[in-house]
Amino acid sequence: MTKLDGQVAIITGGTQGIGEGASEVFCEAGAKVVIWDVLDGQPTAARITEQGGEIFFQKVDITQRSQVETAVAEIMTRYGRIDILINNAGIIRDKSFLKMTDEEWHSVLNVNLSGAFNTCKVVVPIMREAKYGRIINTSSINGTMGAFGQTNYAATKAGIVGFTKSLARETGKYGITVNAVAPGFIKSEMSDSMPKKVIDAGIAMIPVGRIGTAHDIGHAYLFLASKEAGFVTAFTLHVNGGALAI
Ligand SMILES: NC(=O)c1ccc[n+]([C@@H]2O[C@H](COP(=O)([O-])OP(=O)(O)OC[C@H]3O[C@@H](n4cnc5c(N)ncnc54)[C@H](O)[C@@H]3O)[C@@H](O)[C@H]2O)c1
Repeated sequence: MTKLDGQVAIITGGTQGIGEGASEVFCEAGAKVVIWDVLDGQPTAARITEQGGEIFFQKVDITQRSQVETAVAEIMTRYGRIDILINNAGIIRDKSFLKMTDEEWHSVLNVNLSGAFNTCKVVVPIMREAKYGRIINTSSINGTMGAFGQTNYAATKAGIVGFTKSLARETGKYGITVNAVAPGFIKSEMSDSMPKKVIDAGIAMIPVGRIGTAHDIGHAYLFLASKEAGFVTAFTLHVNGGALAI
């Protein structure tokens, strides 16, 4: 298994769903994990600590740059390094286009796109100084395919791919790789909120015949976060059970 011993990883949206599974995977790999979330991540951190992981929670709204700056300063005081940033936090506010409000449009852009901009703004200078870093952003199968009711969400998930490719071009010379993972249909609080018929229709489209797990995505994050993936950058790794062949 890939080892991240001694490395410090921030995982945004790590309280539940994919981020929680990824936090477990990264702790198992020996990383010191910091969860950022607007929800209370203490129970998640306590549970993973009980399993032997080194993890702590900071309440951070990634749309607020000042909160990101404060949290990063605390991490630097505590550990003195940030090796890995997983921009996993995301929201949906699904509505067909004609019914979508400006608030539903802007809130999704704010979290899914501007949130990653904010975290990178604060963390990239630290990685550049260290001449090492691994940044993984979270796209979605729907950023490539589009989806009914998701003009806002799909725009952000396609946008994050362009952001990833561009930032990778700028940071490669500092030893920083920037990649994206595009999950397919994954079991989480986000997917649990969907109607059953949507879930069943989704699974019917997946050649491997099952919904994905948070750990499936956590291991994709882990590969891209590893030292061994140093020649992989500006790439989007699709993890969708074959639902979309790129
Ligand atoms: N579940 C899926 O099927 C699926 C598919 C494709 C892509 N994704 C993407 O994977 C990522 C994780 O999704 P999930 O299914 O685990 O969702 P989820 O809703 O279960 O978890 C998302 C987490 O992000 C946190 N969050 C939301 N806004 C935040 C903010 N402003 N600051 C900090 N944290 C914030 C939430 O509180 C939550 O803990 C998202 O980017 C999502 O778009 C999920």
